[in-house]
Amino acid sequence: MEHLREAAKLLAQAQRVAVFTGAGISAESGVPTFRDALTGLWERFDAQSLATPQAFQEDPELVWGWYEWRRHRVTSVRPNAGHDAVAAIEAHAPHTAVITQNVDDLHERAGSAQSVHLHGSLFAPRCTICAEPAVLPALTGEPDGGRRLAPPSCASCGGMIRPGVVWFGESLPEAALEAAVRAAADADVLLTIGTSGLVYPAAEIPRLAARSGAAVIQVNPQPTPLDRIAAVNLHGPAAGTLPDLVSLAWPD
Ligand code: OAD
Repeated sequence: MEHLREAAKLLAQAQRVAVFTGAGISAESGVPTFRDALTGLWERFDAQSLATPQAFQEDPELVWGWYEWRRHRVTSVRPNAGHDAVAAIEAHAPHTAVITQNVDDLHERAGSAQSVHLHGSLFAPRCTICAEPAVLPALTGEPDGGRRLAPPSCASCGGMIRPGVVWFGESLPEAALEAAVRAAADADVLLTIGTSGLVYPAAEIPRLAARSGAAVIQVNPQPTPLDRIAAVNLHGPAAGTLPDLVSLAWPD
């Protein structure tokens, strides 16, 4: 409780807030994380065969089918109290930037319209040839992480459509990275929620904020490498912790 009060005070006093989220914030909605033991996607699936440009080149149907399965999963769940609390922070502290590594749309559906997607989105496919954005096909059939599906063709040039996510070995979208760096450098408080802090360059964002003088508040049930830079560590799940943090920071 003492840590929660301390974090609430920091948040309420901040002029500029950056919220940095990872897969853990969507876990309580039913979207699997990547590295949690037993349930993490990278515990069950091979990242090299699914999340690299080479994997798509070698087996586009396997890769497209896997991302369509993930889109199906995300489409069938709802934002949780953690996403709602982030939207409430934006409402109370107008200079708030939401930076996410997640490729789901749960921040948007909770009301965070301006979130910066560092790792792209399941909902923004594009052509591999001309880079035109593509319309996603209707989801059909039983979802299954191993089901092969042929990627659609580009309406403009006929090229193969690829998922709009960032794969291992690819650069982050420039505008998103720039916005995230600016928000982290300017923030008085950076709230890092549900990320292992292991994947760079995204993991540099909370570290940059700390170096630039922000107080880092971490919400995560497990220890992470970000414990060391956090001014306050709130050890708990996002949906259970963030609503209390918001009510303490801005009591009605
Ligand atoms: P990880 O799976 O690496 O980490 C998820 C974190 O969420 C862990 O630290 C968990 O302890 C924590 N967690 C689990 N349940 C939680 C809950 N209910 N509330 C709060 N925290 C919880 O996921 P990310 O850090 O997002 O990249 O992974 C970073 C990147 O690695 C992803 O964006 C993805 C992946 O490979 C790409 O696809 C490019």
